[in-house]
Amino acid sequence: MAVIEVALAGRAYDVVIEEGLLARFAEAAAPFLKGYGHARKVPVVADTNTHRLYRTALESNLAAAGYAADWFVVEPGEDAKSWGVLERLCDWLLALGVTRKDHVIALGGGVVGDLVGFACAVVKRGCGFVQVPTTLLAQVDSSVGGKTAINTKAGKNLIGAFHQPSLVLIDPLVLATLPDREMRAGYAEVLKYGLLGDAAFFAWLEANGDKVLAREPAALEHAIATSIAMKARIVAEDERETLDLRALLNLGHTFGHALEAETGFSDRLLHGEAVALGMVLAAKYSARRGEISQADAARAAGAIAAAGLPASLAALGLACDGAALVDHMRHDKKAEGTTLPFLLLRQLGEAYVARDVDLSDIAAFLDGELAA
Ligand code: GLY
Repeated sequence: MAVIEVALAGRAYDVVIEEGLLARFAEAAAPFLKGYGHARKVPVVADTNTHRLYRTALESNLAAAGYAADWFVVEPGEDAKSWGVLERLCDWLLALGVTRKDHVIALGGGVVGDLVGFACAVVKRGCGFVQVPTTLLAQVDSSVGGKTAINTKAGKNLIGAFHQPSLVLIDPLVLATLPDREMRAGYAEVLKYGLLGDAAFFAWLEANGDKVLAREPAALEHAIATSIAMKARIVAEDERETLDLRALLNLGHTFGHALEAETGFSDRLLHGEAVALGMVLAAKYSARRGEISQADAARAAGAIAAAGLPASLAALGLACDGAALVDHMRHDKKAEGTTLPFLLLRQLGEAYVARDVDLSDIAAFLDGELAA
C-alpha cells in the first residue's frame, strides 16, 4: 500500500494505491460519504464497462456501510466528453440535490474522470469528487492533478477547469481486465515520468517493464506509486502550469497531439500510443539539436518499442508531410501566438521546455522521419 499526498495548500488530498481498494470502497472513501444533502445516497458516474464490471461489488460494499448508489452511466469513449453529456450529468446531479459538501464518484478511465471533474467544477460553483481510475493511463496521469475538461468542435480538452479531487483511490487489481493494448498505452505515460525526470526509474523500467505490463503486483504498484509521487510533487509546485514545471508532463504530447489529429483521434492511434511515438520524436529531435546523444535517443526508442508501443513514424504509414503535422500543432492549446513550446530532453531523465524551436525545422525533421 502507498499513500501519496498532493500537497496543495488548503486543498491537499491523498492518492491511495492498494490492491483490493475497490472492494473496500466505503471504508476507504468514508470521510467523503458523509454530510449528504440526500441521505445515504452516493452518486456514481461510470461507463457501461465499469458499470458492468464493478456495479455488484460496489453496491454490496456500499450497502454493508448503509449506503446506496445512484448511477449515471455513459457510453465508453471520448464522445462522452461533450456538451450534451455534461448538460445531462449536471442536470442529474442537481435533480439529486447534490450540495457543495457532497462528493461524486468517478469510476472509470480518463473520459469519466475528466467529465465528472468538470461537472463538479461547475455544479453549484464547485462540489467534491473522488476519482476511482480504472485504466493505467488514468491511474498514473489523468486522475491526479485536477485537469478536467470536455471536447468541442474546436478540439480536445479546450473547455475545462482546474478542479482537484478530494481523494484518488487506485486499485491495481482492476487492471486485470484492461485490454493489453490499453495497458501498453497507459505504460507510455509511466515511461514518460522516467524520461522527463528520473533516470533511475527509467533504467528500472527498462529492466522491469515486462513485469509491469504483465501486472505483476509488486512491479505494478512500484511503477504506479513512483509515477504518482512525481506527478504529485509537480502539481503541488505548479498546479496551473505557469512555471514551466507542470508543462514537463507534456513530454511527447505536442508531437503526439499532431499524430492523434492526423489519425482522427481514433482507435488507429490511442492517446498513449501517440504520446509514446511523440516521446521518440522528442528524443530524436533533442539528439538532432545535440542535446542528447543518438545512443540515448535510441535507448528511449528502444524502451518504447520493447513495450510494444509505436516507435517509428514511418511505420505508421501516414499520407501526409511534416508541414501538415506542424499545422496540427499550431492548434495545440499550448501554442503561444506563432510559437509553440516543445518538451525536449537535456538527458534521459531530464526534460525542459524549449521556446526557440523553429517550426519549419520541425517540419523538415518530420519529413525525414516519415521517410525513414
Ligand atoms: N496530463 C498532464 C497534466 O496533468 O498536467
